[in-house]
Amino acid sequence: MVWWFYVPNIVFGEDALDELEQIKGKKAFIVTDKVVNSLGLTERVCSILTNRQWEAAIWDGAVPDPKVSTVKAAAEAIKHFGADWIIAVGGGSVIDTAKAAWVLYERPDIELHALTPFDELGLRAKAKLACIPTTAGTGSEATKAIVIRDDETGRKFATINPELTPDLAILDPEFVVGLPKELTAYTGMDALTHAVEGYISIWKNDFSDGSSLQALKMVFEWLPKSLDDLSDLESREKMLVAACLAGMSFGNSQAALAHSLGHSMGSVLRTHHGMSVGMALPFTIEFNCRGKENEEIAKQYTELARMIGIAGKKPETVSLKFATAIRELMTKIGNPQSFKEAGIKKKDFNAGLENMVEFAMMDTSLTMNPRNIDSDEIRKIYKYMYDGTVIDF
Ligand SMILES: NC(=O)c1ccc[n+]([C@@H]2O[C@H](COP(=O)([O-])OP(=O)(O)OC[C@H]3O[C@@H](n4cnc5c(N)ncnc54)[C@H](O)[C@@H]3O)[C@@H](O)[C@H]2O)c1
Ligand SMILES: [Fe+2]
Repeated sequence: MVWWFYVPNIVFGEDALDELEQIKGKKAFIVTDKVVNSLGLTERVCSILTNRQWEAAIWDGAVPDPKVSTVKAAAEAIKHFGADWIIAVGGGSVIDTAKAAWVLYERPDIELHALTPFDELGLRAKAKLACIPTTAGTGSEATKAIVIRDDETGRKFATINPELTPDLAILDPEFVVGLPKELTAYTGMDALTHAVEGYISIWKNDFSDGSSLQALKMVFEWLPKSLDDLSDLESREKMLVAACLAGMSFGNSQAALAHSLGHSMGSVLRTHHGMSVGMALPFTIEFNCRGKENEEIAKQYTELARMIGIAGKKPETVSLKFATAIRELMTKIGNPQSFKEAGIKKKDFNAGLENMVEFAMMDTSLTMNPRNIDSDEIRKIYKYMYDGTVIDF
């Protein structure tokens, strides 16, 4: 069978930003958010380009978990400016805003809701896309995916199209060195979840497998080090690489149950994406690996577990140990392991539960989960997740 593996050109390491000296064009439109803009990072990007006699504009209207209306505002601003490069400087929300606005800039006739992986968009007739991540987590700089929120329902929906793979990803540790502790932990958990889910998705392939294994090993080694010393450029660079590798993996094989659960938590309770999928991850491993009929899935978790030194004879037992190791990592770095620990009140959880179940069932990542699941099981997993009870069904 023929299969594809999409990745951008990737430049990484200290001074990776200098790659901007090489790109060809005249007009750059920089998409960012107010927090990142205030850190002076966009100014650095701008000055490299304007020193080369480019015209550059900064748009800082992106917000966490962007809505369709945010994307439309960005697209209008790009159209008004007339860019030949769009440069995203920010976390996953900024990068997704830039990617989706790029689609609307090139193809104003497209409805983001209706975008499919099979559409021939003809992107790059007007502009190319470069991404400079300021968080080490989403890997969006390497994926063909966008995650946007519906304005009316608040539901986050993910959509993919191969043409959305950025042209260039610049992984410069100086762009993440200022990321605070909590966001470092949460975004790192997103990278870990991509590494694990990219490896067990039913669309997994040899290229995504290789990327996942290395990403997993690197997250376990470098995420705690990033948190021990937030200013350490080496661990920041390693986490940027790990997140990008994990993005290459799941971007080409897709995410699974933890992302369906996590997207819906973000939609309904407005929890951070990485915190949410990270919290869900061990519960989904415990669900997916249960019983003789799921032994093939458990074997895949065993291969992942081996990368962090966990071995054993029975795949299910090793998978459960793997889930425990992920919980231990979360204890070390401070990612909540239950809704309760995340400070979600029982009444808010109960009020949002049915919405979360409905949204999780609609989430595209669910299709790629290796074990089938119905809405009753999703509801039950969420209930176990409230107190942090280990899954036993
Ligand atoms: N398209 C994809 O492939 C993909 C993959 C995973 C996640 N996502 C999406 O990405 C979004 C999450 O992105 P995220 O986790 O990177 O966070 P984010 O982009 O939503 O940013 C979270 C907060 O961190 C701040 N921030 C970002 N960089 C900073 C820095 N260097 N210093 C200080 N503050 C900084 C932002 O201003 C914001 O307030 C979600 O919407 C998620 O669904 C997309
Ligand atoms: Fe994610």
